[in-house]
Amino acid sequence: MTTRHFLRDDDVTPAEQAELLDLAATLKASPWSRRPLAGPKSVAMIFDKPTLRTQVSFGAGIAELGGNPMLVEGKLAGIGVRESVEDVARVLGRQVSVVVWRTFFQADLDTMAAHAGVPVVNALTDDFHPCQLVADLLTVREHKGDLAGLTVAFVGDGACNMGNSWLLAGATAGMHVRIAAPSGYQPSEAMYARAAEIAATTGGSATAFDDAEKAVAGADVVVTDTWISMGKEAEEADRTTVFAPYSLTTELMALAEPDAVALHCLPAYRGKEIAAEVLDGPQSVVWDEAENRRHAQKAVMTFLLERSSR
Ligand code: NVA
Repeated sequence: MTTRHFLRDDDVTPAEQAELLDLAATLKASPWSRRPLAGPKSVAMIFDKPTLRTQVSFGAGIAELGGNPMLVEGKLAGIGVRESVEDVARVLGRQVSVVVWRTFFQADLDTMAAHAGVPVVNALTDDFHPCQLVADLLTVREHKGDLAGLTVAFVGDGACNMGNSWLLAGATAGMHVRIAAPSGYQPSEAMYARAAEIAATTGGSATAFDDAEKAVAGADVVVTDTWISMGKEAEEADRTTVFAPYSLTTELMALAEPDAVALHCLPAYRGKEIAAEVLDGPQSVVWDEAENRRHAQKAVMTFLLERSSR
């Protein structure tokens, strides 16, 4: 029995990432061309943190793959509180074909994957947001062509799930990933080491910056994310001060290549991490990015189901 999971960005090789992106593009062009969930088979979607894009893009995408999207209310299920993650995994694996879980701790997702017997997909944890990265890379590829060799600058909270995921997924794609963040908000040394290990095989690179202007200078892609990730609300005042120099303003964006694109996984806070003029401006591709969640996640589920056997 083999079961493939998508828990972090480096769960796929560079070749597999390219395959995922090709499949996502195919599914975007022909939304009903693959039906791995025909039956319908059910997919459990569990959310322990807020969601909009993830719930609707998985829900619509699962239906397009022929399946039944089953919302499991995280608070009612009480995973790890009412019963152990292991027992929940064993029960879900007898009912559904895929488990999609948004939760806090990566270790809980690992436990779910170890005991479910069906593919488990990370729909965001504190550490990674790999489905978002498949969507982001698809969006960049649509607007900029080949990913290998492109320079991406992520500005803001580099220590959040999006910073980590850009490091690993960008390196996997052969991109030059620059993370501009204040001291204390960079990805861990272990994360940089893992990105460097991947980049050595793809021709990419991973570099830490504390100066946002230097990081964005000449970039092909500029990315930011909220300064206050879900679960960090108590730190709002401190974070608003420390991240202020990393705001993606029109002046900062002007330092990138003239044809650079701006990404934001949303929800966005105009006037904080990104200026309204950038988010709503001509270089912004955020609505394509939001749409591409569906195509990307359909590719992820199709890929995992094809490579798993029971
Ligand atoms: N870093 C953000 C991403 C939201 C999709 C958070 O974790 O809240």
